Amino acid sequence: MNENLSSNELREKFIAYYKEKGHAVLPSAALIPENDPTTLFTGSGMQPLISYLLGEKHPQGTRLVDAQQCFRVNDIEEVGDSRHTTFFEMLGNWSLGDYFKKEQIPWIFGFLVDVVGIDPKRLYVTAFSGDPSIGIPKDETSVEIWTNLFTQKGVTATAVDLGTEENAYIVGMQNGRIFYYGSKNWWSRSGTPETMPVGEPGGPDSEMFYEFPDVDHNKKFGEHCHPQCDCGRFIEIGNSVFMEYKKEGEGVFAKLAHENVDFGGGFERMLQAINDSSDIFLGVDNLKKILDVLEEKSGRKYSDSTAKKSFRVIADHMRAAVFLISNGIAPSNTDRGYVLRRLIRRMVRHCDLIGVEEGFLAPISRIVVDSYVSIRPILSEQSMVILQTINDEEQKFRKTLKSGLNEFGKKVIGAGKKSLNGEESFYFYQSFGFPVEVMRELCQENNITFSEEEFNKEFEKHQKLSRFGTDKKFAGGLADTSEQTTKLHTATHLLHTSLRKVLGEHVGQKGSNITAERLRFDFSHPTKMTTEEIKKVEEIVNEQINRALPVIKEITTPDKAKESGALGFFTEKYGDQVSVYSMGDFSKEICGGPHVQNTSELVSFKILKEEAVSAGIRRIKATVG
Ligand code: ALA
Repeated sequence: MNENLSSNELREKFIAYYKEKGHAVLPSAALIPENDPTTLFTGSGMQPLISYLLGEKHPQGTRLVDAQQCFRVNDIEEVGDSRHTTFFEMLGNWSLGDYFKKEQIPWIFGFLVDVVGIDPKRLYVTAFSGDPSIGIPKDETSVEIWTNLFTQKGVTATAVDLGTEENAYIVGMQNGRIFYYGSKNWWSRSGTPETMPVGEPGGPDSEMFYEFPDVDHNKKFGEHCHPQCDCGRFIEIGNSVFMEYKKEGEGVFAKLAHENVDFGGGFERMLQAINDSSDIFLGVDNLKKILDVLEEKSGRKYSDSTAKKSFRVIADHMRAAVFLISNGIAPSNTDRGYVLRRLIRRMVRHCDLIGVEEGFLAPISRIVVDSYVSIRPILSEQSMVILQTINDEEQKFRKTLKSGLNEFGKKVIGAGKKSLNGEESFYFYQSFGFPVEVMRELCQENNITFSEEEFNKEFEKHQKLSRFGTDKKFAGGLADTSEQTTKLHTATHLLHTSLRKVLGEHVGQKGSNITAERLRFDFSHPTKMTTEEIKKVEEIVNEQINRALPVIKEITTPDKAKESGALGFFTEKYGDQVSVYSMGDFSKEICGGPHVQNTSELVSFKILKEEAVSAGIRRIKATVG
């Protein structure tokens, strides 16, 4: 392919291809997961669809396609090499108990090879080698389908059983094209069959890799290269998860109600493969555009090895920052706001490293806005807010950065320190707003040992903050929390309607977040609620619980739902068909669920706190049981 394929072209082609195969097109869900306490950000296409994979009926049918905005906070540290990004899109197609392996594999192969022109000789695929201890067989069906597909294209396709990754590094690829791996080819939101919490769905998967033959294997990863090796020679461009199991207990797996397909294709990586660029930043148009502007503004070249990392960090973080801000996140010292703060502050540091002047960072956001506005029209309204947010955060950071660097020069470098302990690094965080990456990079540049673990300990001690990333949040176990969060979700609807009854119809939902312990509901209202108002709202909700109202779901169009008086506020998310949940004659809301079957399951409702979030927005924390 001579001319590079653009992002918009790839997205359109993928959606059109599956639409033609009877898939309903879903709009991307928000980056902040709704009613999912397990994770800070939406990090894969399946997350917003989890209840449907577990068996709930989707209003749009059993075949779905979308391009989901995703953000992976754990990858912040990886950004700087040729292929990691924090923000990305995931192309997805789903079968909810509809088609399975014999359609999924030929379709995605057909898309990659026949529609977007990937050379099948560059493709390598994997399948699950089975796990007798939990009674799940080797996925020979997928391997047979792959063998036929490659053979039809005149490509030799031997299957090799590699088992573990460790073994793969020792034995190498043995001229194979199709590889069996063990737990590497099992997918769930929380890892392998062993690490998954009870209640979590998962299944064997089949991944596709693209090879860049010009990238030499790096033996630091292991003796021999293989598709799952992380040296950069192979990149994963798509993963078909055959989601048909649910963990029922330790070592016990049962079949889900349906055999589902959850396909997720890393959009940028797919584009990188189609454009045959081993560097994601050069293969993806909207990243490359940022590099071009940075070259102009800094007078440096991207190809200059001492500047490359900074270019990559700024390009990635700018896309991420724009998406985070447009999802309603503002820089702060907690949770998502802190992640955004880290992204912006890190960009500022890297602007300094390559010589982009103060104040030149924020206008670069315009490139991201322009690149995505056709699929995310809200960006055009928000472009000023985005610019302002980045500018303000840059100013705030710069105010203390200078004195912080001075202090660092005196107290750390000048004092000849060879390592920083938790207390010392936390001092720079607290007094000068140095995010953890800035600290690490400063230490690296000056050959000083820095322990993130110690910093985190100190951080948690001070802030009582444990929500740093997604991993830890899974540790609590989904199953224990899911019943409670479902109740809190139902309580949120009752609260919403009760607030409107007590305070007035101007009350509208501005945000919702649920953990196992409490619901949090943000709503529009100009003044602090009085004690009487709070009591009244509590009383009304408890009344509805005592009335034991049935919770009924129906599927309709967004227009009909509105006509019928259903509440609904997050219009950017709705497709052609929506679910509406009614609780007796009391509440009716457009919502994806899940909910309890009867309000009596909530037992009782209590408001814990009422406070201000910002001008005109109040917040209630409440609990049930
Ligand atoms: N859910 C699968 C993934 O994220 C497709 O890789």
